[in-house]
Amino acid sequence: MAIITFPRGFLWGVSTSSYQNEGGNRGSAFWDWEARRGWERSAEAARSWELFDEDLRLLRELNLTACRFSVEWARVQPAPDRFDEEALARYAAWARRLAEHGIRPLVTLHHFSEPAWLLRLHPGGWLEAGVPERFLRFAERVAAALGGAVADWVVFNEPMVFLLFAYGLGHFPPGRRLLWRPQRTFQPVLLRGLIRAHNDCYRLIHRLQPGARVGAAHHVSQLEPARPGDEAAVARWDRFMHRDFLDGTKDCLDFLGLNYYTRVFVSSSRLPGLPAAALPGFAEVEKGLTRPLFRLLGGRRGGGPPGGTGWEIVPEGLGAVALKYWEEYRKPVWITENGVADEAGADREAFLRGHLASLARAAAQGADLRGYLHWTLVDNYEWGTYRHRFGLCDRARRPKPGASFYAETARRGWFEG
Ligand code: BGC
Repeated sequence: MAIITFPRGFLWGVSTSSYQNEGGNRGSAFWDWEARRGWERSAEAARSWELFDEDLRLLRELNLTACRFSVEWARVQPAPDRFDEEALARYAAWARRLAEHGIRPLVTLHHFSEPAWLLRLHPGGWLEAGVPERFLRFAERVAAALGGAVADWVVFNEPMVFLLFAYGLGHFPPGRRLLWRPQRTFQPVLLRGLIRAHNDCYRLIHRLQPGARVGAAHHVSQLEPARPGDEAAVARWDRFMHRDFLDGTKDCLDFLGLNYYTRVFVSSSRLPGLPAAALPGFAEVEKGLTRPLFRLLGGRRGGGPPGGTGWEIVPEGLGAVALKYWEEYRKPVWITENGVADEAGADREAFLRGHLASLARAAAQGADLRGYLHWTLVDNYEWGTYRHRFGLCDRARRPKPGASFYAETARRGWFEG
């Protein structure tokens, strides 16, 4: 039995997102998208717009000291020429109340969901020059309204996942499928555009709030070659999926947020249209291609236990990515998301133990780690379905198995491993 410890001042929390939690976000482009795509409707989601007091109570019962939530763009700017001051005030009040209870608020400005009006005015989305400009005006209003209570900002949640889903695979609005020409559009226009928007937003927030800390929540996986000889494909995929965004924003990152869920085996591929000439073995890619075709093309999936989403559970990957990104970028690291769709709640404690132990090892090896934010507080809308339940608590706000272990670890700052 060993005692697993964490750095002094390490914060424990959860991550959530407005569209997945609040409910009733009719102004978002996702609202009609759900209907058009035949998705299960988000409807009331987790009702967090109404149930903030309940959520605050849970955060306190779980002894948490940090909470990341996002601001719904369409809620605070319901029309291009109109901001909703009440909505802004409600978000500001949430942040204040969290802080009053010793819970550090981290606020995300862009967690996938954008106003429907934005895409009506700019059907090309981030392919059009007007969108970054509008995003900055939105960010400016939010920073001005919440700045008194919020010092930690995440500009984009998972910029690469957003681009891949919204502009690469057509899975999110505006539903473009441009992956077949990554060198022509994807990288020079979309990725460059998001990098520029992040950097502009960083400077804007620092101008309004000199003491602010501005970062990103970047989706990272532990990468491994599918077979000997695939090392170059790993490096290419790593550059495309992880490095390009970070290298473009590194002078405008006060901290590095990492969203880690799984390990991915990468194979080299000559298939035209695959970015970085690589086939990444995500569960979704295997499903999209069908297993026989995926295998035929050289795809490989890991053999570890799959969570409810089919993502292989690899606890040591969390510490590995935390250490790697700290060593390479020398920015304080937050784990801004990590979690498992554990429908029955039976595996969450083991999941937490494994991942937190590997994180503690990374800290012991020198990584500057500031906090761990579990995805997520209550079961929420998982972009098309309620089947995948990532919550420490269910939607009735009842803690599930694993929540008490997390609460105890957060209270003591250590656990027996
Ligand atoms: C996203 C969340 C999502 C979670 C689990 C992350 O990629 O930021 O919105 O719910 O993973 O799929």
